[in-house]
Amino acid sequence: MQINPLSDVLGAEVIGIDVGNLDEVTFDKVHEAFLEHHVLVFRDQNLPPERQVAFAQRFGELDVHIQKDNKHSGHEAIQVLSNKKVNGEYIGSPSAGDAWHSDLSYTDIPTLCTMLYAMEIPEVGGDTEWSNMYRAYDTLSEEMKQRLDGLHARHTFNRFRNPRVEVPEIYKGIGKERYADIAPPDAVHPLVRTHPETGRKALYLSERFTIGIEELEEEEGQALMDELIAHQKQRDFIYRHKWSLHDLTIWDNRCLIHLACGGVPEGQIRHMHRVIVRGDKPY
Ligand SMILES: [Fe+2]
Repeated sequence: MQINPLSDVLGAEVIGIDVGNLDEVTFDKVHEAFLEHHVLVFRDQNLPPERQVAFAQRFGELDVHIQKDNKHSGHEAIQVLSNKKVNGEYIGSPSAGDAWHSDLSYTDIPTLCTMLYAMEIPEVGGDTEWSNMYRAYDTLSEEMKQRLDGLHARHTFNRFRNPRVEVPEIYKGIGKERYADIAPPDAVHPLVRTHPETGRKALYLSERFTIGIEELEEEEGQALMDELIAHQKQRDFIYRHKWSLHDLTIWDNRCLIHLACGGVPEGQIRHMHRVIVRGDKPY
């Protein structure tokens, strides 16, 4: 097994292993690399759904996403992210991840890690970016760190309640009802969370899901969020991944935010399988 860093800020590629067939010792090394690099890219994997699910389960209990319309027909734990159409209908979610976020931060128990497997990739576009929220926290001024200490942010799935994001065209017709029906109650989490495995502090908000700061008046809270959101998207904190066919990526949602960059031209296909592993309550 070879582990090669992909940037100075986060990410490493892992080559020479089959994730469907790892002994305990090798898995422990993979897990260690995951905590160190936050994103791992396993190259050239052959992963039918059951093998992807089995590998994900080694990281913890799987979660089932609230967007039930994108589920794989044979495997409940697998979500299909795809711009493919059959009979004029999308077969998966074509627009997932189009604003910076950390997966399922709008629930009480957000996602520990996400695994995304590239089954078809376009020639152009479809990149993914991650930004390092340890780095974002560490580079704040001491004054700002003190200001954030003890603050909590409110997160929601409902795009209609968040002026920072757009509602995709395909949801505009059925929009408000759809979001109201499936959005769980808002979640409130510390604005700075402590990673349960490394003990390090990470900034924990995002433009997709965070809509306010509990302890501050509306205007002051929004101004602080604007400042933190601009800070967390600095290029120095970001690695951009250009996918290769059969890459499997896994990333740590407890210390990263991510973005699906889009830009896939009409007629080209991006088709992915996603599995999410349940984390614990942020503190
Ligand atoms: Fe995501």
